[in-house]
Amino acid sequence: MKLRQNHKKYSSLLENIDDVKQAISLISPFIKNMIKFPMRKFNGPIGEKQLIFESKIKKNFLENRCNLFSLCSSPEYFLEKGKNLFFEDYLAYQFWITSLEIEQELIYKFWPKTVVQQCIHAGLISQKLTLEGTKLLSNFRIIPFRDMFLIADRYDRTYNDMVYLSYDSLVLAEFLAEVNYQGQVICDICSGSGILGLTISKNCPHKQNESVIHSIDINPRAIECAQVNSALNELALQGHVSTYSNCKSFISTSDIVVFNPPFIFGPASRLLLDSDGGEQGIEHTFNILKLINRNLKIGGRYIGISQSPIIQGKDVLWNAVQQFETLEINYHVLDEFKPFSRYSEWYASHGVEAIRQIIIFGDRMPTKAAKIFNNKSEIGKYCFS
Ligand SMILES: C[S@@+](CC[C@H](N)C(=O)[O-])C[C@H]1O[C@@H](n2cnc3c(N)ncnc32)[C@H](O)[C@@H]1O
Repeated sequence: MKLRQNHKKYSSLLENIDDVKQAISLISPFIKNMIKFPMRKFNGPIGEKQLIFESKIKKNFLENRCNLFSLCSSPEYFLEKGKNLFFEDYLAYQFWITSLEIEQELIYKFWPKTVVQQCIHAGLISQKLTLEGTKLLSNFRIIPFRDMFLIADRYDRTYNDMVYLSYDSLVLAEFLAEVNYQGQVICDICSGSGILGLTISKNCPHKQNESVIHSIDINPRAIECAQVNSALNELALQGHVSTYSNCKSFISTSDIVVFNPPFIFGPASRLLLDSDGGEQGIEHTFNILKLINRNLKIGGRYIGISQSPIIQGKDVLWNAVQQFETLEINYHVLDEFKPFSRYSEWYASHGVEAIRQIIIFGDRMPTKAAKIFNNKSEIGKYCFS
């Protein structure tokens, strides 16, 4: 799998962050028009609970400008879906997601020339001269989430180091924002675009410049991206390019640890750095919980999102976390669905009957804590205090 060469660097966005802010403020009214097309991630089988949950997010997003437009399946899926959409809106929508090149003149139908020029100047859009004329290509996605704007890579999974602000992160960020999950020192493990730590910090009861976010990611592009997003939203963030196994000292000094690690269990051909969950898909989630169990201070909180396969009727992650002596474990099942049909043979040969999408959270306790197994669909109703 390729790593990016000659890609537009996030760090160059950081150098001219004021231009980026200005360009985003210019296109934000147009982006608002586009967000009427929320899309779910999976083209494949999906459970009823997930659909109910999504319809809630969709309602929230229509009312509060909370966004789902960045969510994407394959570009082909959008091309097919797009047939039913008003073409120009659809095209504008496509432009900020995929690696689609669009004629400059066509883009001028959606955005005034000055706005496009400002985006080019800020590095958000590239110009490409071709025999058929000038084409434009978005370099990044711009994602409005509540009262923040975030940047991530456009959708191009031919690169192993693509920074993808995923559906799961938006679900967890919605949860964090709704329950006002507060903390002054935040450790965001496998931070990607940085959305989770930034969302907690945004709701921090302390002055925002007093809260500290430690973002940890093995992908240098992800850390650059998180730094741009913190600058864009005027929140303080310290980025660390590292594997999570070297982040004990950040865990031990944090009030909250949040994580969205790679957790997909599936054939290698469908997995990248941001999705490969290792053994049974729970390797990273389990290792992170192990670190938290040993290093988080008593009373410190953790919250993460993951998946877990059901094998021989048993939830593999749920079984594994029973061994943690000092972690309160609340296990909330968001959805349970059949494995991706395209790879059904692979899943059958590994004994996977179903996959659960879960949120796991709790406090570090002085002694073994009660464990609660939640299986309700209305996650916004949960409160931590
Ligand atoms: C599911 S993505 C996180 C998405 C992120 N919350 C967002 O929405 O932008 C998982 C992230 O874990 C990172 N990662 C993978 N292995 C890692 C490791 N051993 N240590 C730290 N980060 C890792 C990937 O680079 C990727 O950014």
